Amino acid sequence: MLVPRSVPAVVVAGNWKMHVSPDDAREFLDAFSPRRGPGRPQVAVFPPAISLLAAVTSAPSWLAIGTQNIHWEARGAFTGEVSAPLALAAGATHTLVGHSERRHLFGETDSDVARKTAAAVHHGLVPTVCVGETLAERHAGRVSEVILRQLDAALECLAGQETQFLLAYEPVWAIGTGETATPQDATEAHSVLRHRMREQLGDRADQVSILYGGSVKPDNAAELMAADDVDGVLVGGASLDPVSFVRIVDAAPDR
Ligand code: 13P
Repeated sequence: MLVPRSVPAVVVAGNWKMHVSPDDAREFLDAFSPRRGPGRPQVAVFPPAISLLAAVTSAPSWLAIGTQNIHWEARGAFTGEVSAPLALAAGATHTLVGHSERRHLFGETDSDVARKTAAAVHHGLVPTVCVGETLAERHAGRVSEVILRQLDAALECLAGQETQFLLAYEPVWAIGTGETATPQDATEAHSVLRHRMREQLGDRADQVSILYGGSVKPDNAAELMAADDVDGVLVGGASLDPVSFVRIVDAAPDR
């Protein structure tokens, strides 16, 4: 479990998307050995559901494992879905909610994301709520409006709770494209999110890690994680190879 602190922890997370079989997960974790010790970042991976158990059983105790998505109901006739209680029973401690691929490819709405966030919190899975604008929205000057609308929907169910959660700012145009937001772009968006959380959550907002995601690679990770208000990264493609993911984890600042 990632432990809450008075300043946001640095978190480096890998979203394996629809890659990594159970055997691949075991092989990855055998080879995955970033620098550990006081001040080193918290690390999590989000395998596909089919490989969750293999990851849980092969993971060292310092590595958090999460699902990429959950359903808001605890059980029922929802073919193909995974609930928070099932994820917890398989050993997950975390879940992504509202990833842009869920929103844009599978039609998830802000209210779906809010229900999933509420389910995660209710059952004791730590949600990482993902927000981010499309290129058209950025060009139209709507970055703050879009990410605040997405954040507000999730905050409604988080405001009254003492539970831990994380945010990930992932501009859609930077995901899987090789286009990375500049550290300044990330800081600007993260400060907008932090400011709104302070209004809604008070001092608790300062404990929430805000991760940047979108074409994070070993070569740009240190610069992104050194930017103000960037408390870590959520990595897609470059988290699939243990050598490259170790380089990203090792690029995180001590905190
Ligand atoms: P890439 O790092 O492949 O751009 O993916 C980012 C992402 O979507 C992480 O959730």
